[in-house]
Amino acid sequence: TAMLVGPKPLSGKRVLVTAGGTVERIDPVRYITNDSSGKMGFAIAEAARDRGAEVTLVCGRTDGEAPNGVHIVKVNSARQMYDAVMASVPNMDFVVKAAAVADYRPMHQEAHKMKKTSEAITLELVRNPDILQAIGDWRAIQPDSGKPFVIGFAAETMDVEKHALDKLNRKKCDLIVANNVAESGAGFGTETNIVSVYGPQGLVEQIPQMPKRAVAERLWDLAEIRMNVTNA
Ligand code: CTP
Ligand code: CA
Repeated sequence: TAMLVGPKPLSGKRVLVTAGGTVERIDPVRYITNDSSGKMGFAIAEAARDRGAEVTLVCGRTDGEAPNGVHIVKVNSARQMYDAVMASVPNMDFVVKAAAVADYRPMHQEAHKMKKTSEAITLELVRNPDILQAIGDWRAIQPDSGKPFVIGFAAETMDVEKHALDKLNRKKCDLIVANNVAESGAGFGTETNIVSVYGPQGLVEQIPQMPKRAVAERLWDLAEIRMNVTNA
């Protein structure tokens, strides 16, 4: 019978995973968020942990139990996630950005619960920092050795390949995992996912519908192969 011998594939490796949606406060009782459950990020963190990695999981708002055996850093807003991620990226071997970061936040956060006044009001929103873009820009000026391998995500509802490749190039990641969040059995809140993985040369693999943990295992297989190639 076959036996698993030797060190686990990711033993001694440091992995940073982000998961869940960010929460952007309007006032003490109201906020803006999105449908992300954090399940894909949790599955990626668990798979890395079981492959022997030391895993840090930066979580926004999530549903369900966070994994055991990983370092959990809880954040609310995109700006908090930015600070947590950018502080630890230089120490990482792999970074996986599965979080659904709010693109905008309210321009003003009210100190007190807002009172209803007129019949219609306008909420002014401003852009949040793009964390994956900041990682890509930072990585572009680092020497080749010691750079973490970076996996981004792309949530799309149309022209998935075009948008995913555009994000991969703009944010300078090694792989981008595109999911069509309009498809059933994929995306936010579901137990399964259906993704296409792209690298700088284009499509790497189409992963059919399967549990998020199985998708995570496949992603680590791809990342491990590529990391070894880059380091060879
Ligand atoms: N991302 C990020 N910081 C942001 C927005 C997105 O780090 N402020 C990351 C996500 O974690 C994901 C990737 O960028 O890994 C793509 O996110 P997505 O929302 O699909 O793309 P955007 O660049 O925000 O573009 P758009 O929403 O306009 O499609
Ligand atoms: Ca976005």
